[in-house]
Amino acid sequence: MANQQLKIGIILGSTRQGRVSPQVGQWVKQIAEGRGDAAYEVVDITEYKLPFFGEGTGQEPGLAAWKGKIESLDGFVFIVQEYNHSITGALKNALDSARDPWFNKAAGIVSYGSTGGARAAEHLRGILGELLVADVRTHPTLSLFTDFENFSVFKPSSLHLTNINGMLDQVVAWSGALKTLR
Ligand SMILES: Cc1cc2nc3c(=O)[nH]c(=O)nc-3n(C[C@H](O)[C@H](O)[C@H](O)COP(=O)(O)O)c2cc1C
Repeated sequence: MANQQLKIGIILGSTRQGRVSPQVGQWVKQIAEGRGDAAYEVVDITEYKLPFFGEGTGQEPGLAAWKGKIESLDGFVFIVQEYNHSITGALKNALDSARDPWFNKAAGIVSYGSTGGARAAEHLRGILGELLVADVRTHPTLSLFTDFENFSVFKPSSLHLTNINGMLDQVVAWSGALKTLR
């Protein structure tokens, strides 16, 4: 029952114009909401207009709003796209732009790229460890070649459903367990 109160943010890792991440995020949200086990929302980094870490005044309203949003969530699903074998600069900046609000929470990763975004996802796991975010094992990987038409229209293969649900099972379980630590 406690899990029904859990809030899980589906964080879009890319911010470029023409990005495909909103399509992937909405797809994950639709599957997640069908489960009825937590409150799921898409979190879009672009809406916060985050300054590059350390270059702003620290008083930007978006920065406070970003920290507040991360604080309000119990767990995360990162929508990760591979940029030069790693995560986007925008996602790294967003991760750096909050610290304590990440601590003792759980996360899953859904990635895409020419090799399923696997290299970017592994980089993200290293960063999450430093932020005390427990990343779950099950990791759906989407292919730019077979899950997208013309690399731009998302047409996911149904075979990913099992992995998405397996990942969410773990994120919800760990988010609930870690809530007791905070
Ligand atoms: C600057 C840049 C670097 C990229 N590097 C890689 C890469 O190393 N490996 C890969 O699989 N795809 C790479 N891609 C392809 C992206 O994964 C692909 O364009 C994807 O759609 C980006 O996600 P987005 O549309 O949500 O921004 C790169 C794309 C860009 C723009």
